[in-house]
Amino acid sequence: MKIAVFAGDGIGPEVTREAVRVLEALALPGLELIAGDVGGSAWRKHGHPLPPETLAIAQAADAILFGAVGDFECDRLERHLRPEQAILGLRKELGLFANLRPARLFAGLEDCSALRPEVASAIDLLIVRELNGDVYFGEKGMRTLADGRRQGWDMMSYAEDEVARIAHVAFRAAEGRRGRLCSIDKANVLETSQLWREVVSAVAADYPDVALSHMYVDNAAMQLVRNPGQFDVIVTGNLFGDILSDQASMCVGSIGLLASAALGAGSPGGSKGLYEPIHGSAPDIAGQNRANPMASILSAAMLLRHSLGREDEAARIESAVARALADGVRGSDLGGSHGTAAIGDAVLARL
Ligand code: IPM
Ligand code: MG
Repeated sequence: MKIAVFAGDGIGPEVTREAVRVLEALALPGLELIAGDVGGSAWRKHGHPLPPETLAIAQAADAILFGAVGDFECDRLERHLRPEQAILGLRKELGLFANLRPARLFAGLEDCSALRPEVASAIDLLIVRELNGDVYFGEKGMRTLADGRRQGWDMMSYAEDEVARIAHVAFRAAEGRRGRLCSIDKANVLETSQLWREVVSAVAADYPDVALSHMYVDNAAMQLVRNPGQFDVIVTGNLFGDILSDQASMCVGSIGLLASAALGAGSPGGSKGLYEPIHGSAPDIAGQNRANPMASILSAAMLLRHSLGREDEAARIESAVARALADGVRGSDLGGSHGTAAIGDAVLARL
């Protein structure tokens, strides 16, 4: 079992360190961790945010534990050298098209949500976000119009097979949960979304036990704060999924709690994947022992579940995190005073 560990920039290394301590504490036989450089730190060392040696480590690994990328110094770089290209490149090069972003309210955090406790406590949803297409990977450019004005442009598109494969992942996930799937698009305005809606509706025929609904993304953003308990599984494109998953994170108390899995064909279950907290590198608090490592620790749990088939260990980690939160272990993101390492210690103690 080869696990690539790409800690990256900002708070990436400090949160990933705690997740690695948790993985090591399980003492799984044959587990090998291989570190690699990504993001701004890789650019400084190798001149590229995703150097070939890092990609080779990822290709040879069974799973990747990813931290975060991005720092202030790199914001001025040309797009292809920016730290974000590391994560976008790994998702694309490894064909990791299915992003699972679960969000549920942990007991004891009712008062940490931006929503009223009775609204927040109903949250138990899974966002299935497409990761290899959409406006993220379309042609883009900067041009000067005939009248001299500069114009930036980005091409949004989805091919029907790209929509169908993510729809299948989402329907299967809904079958294993409460049997409800909401597909989110902007079909009242976008052709991309029109096709999306048609294809998702056609795939539904294969899943008679799943109740499918459709929602426009603006309404979905509103419903996510009005009545998030109505959602079970959400399936959506790359851009809308990026935005809605950040929004969902504040509904459950903190972005420092949300883990994610990016999976390829055959997912979920037993396939290669990349696992990362959904929060970014937060360079403003890096190195201050203030970051909450729980999202990274929960990402390690998802890694055990989806890539290594270790459901028992995954559940043990999730339960240790839940108990730490229930016992009042809180980082500054949740209004508490526990530092990064102390949170790691608290989870380890309960493991
Ligand atoms: C995420 C992040 C990335 C994305 C960035 C870092 C490119 O926001 O994983 O949600 O937009 O996908
Ligand atoms: Mg994001």
